[in-house]
Amino acid sequence: MIIAIDGPAGAGKSTVSKKVASKLGLNFLDTGALYRALAYALDVKGIPPVPGDEMGEELSKLEVELSGGMVYVNGADVSKQIRTPHADRIVSPYSALPQLRSHLLELQRRQALFGKGIVAEGRDIGSIVFPRADVKIFLTASAEERAMRRYRERLAKGEAAIYDEILLSVRERDRIDSTRDVAPLLKPEGSHLIDSSSMSEEQVVDEIVRIATMSK
Ligand code: DC
Repeated sequence: MIIAIDGPAGAGKSTVSKKVASKLGLNFLDTGALYRALAYALDVKGIPPVPGDEMGEELSKLEVELSGGMVYVNGADVSKQIRTPHADRIVSPYSALPQLRSHLLELQRRQALFGKGIVAEGRDIGSIVFPRADVKIFLTASAEERAMRRYRERLAKGEAAIYDEILLSVRERDRIDSTRDVAPLLKPEGSHLIDSSSMSEEQVVDEIVRIATMSK
């Protein structure tokens, strides 16, 4: 079974997808982590998010791997480095590059070959990566609510956070992710819309499990 969950930054896709996967005995794939890993590795090397031969050559030297919930680039664990506010800011321009997206496509599709199936979350899962997914969900929430969740998460981790800055960054990522030419963030055809603005995490998980169970 393949469950595709798409939606904007901060809609709660990762947490909810992990729980749905665990309830249904499926694997979990966080595709944003793959984009973050490549963006981080290119940024560290000083390669700007510009298409062309240089980008192609650099990408051919980078191998991303997923193992035990961790993300590796050329064997180095980058799981922590890809979750910083800096990584949040740089990832969208890199993920708008067609070269970078095609570099990750097969890796994402391969993950569905293991176990009983997969819950994959991202921006183009139901439209491009798994267009024939058994269940497609478009999970969203207002920009203000998503920024508030990120703000609370950062405070809970003991990190400094300014709500207005987070809201601006959420809006900017929405803009880049939805207006790019390749694989823009959109509600895939045949997907179920869930607006989690005033729903608890548990309610969202139960709703997705209900939809998945009905589709069997
Ligand atoms: O879900 P996230 O915030 O970790 O995603 C990080 C970035 O990666 C996001 O700004 C857009 C990009 N992304 C994408 O373009 N396609 C995906 N399937 C997943 C993420």
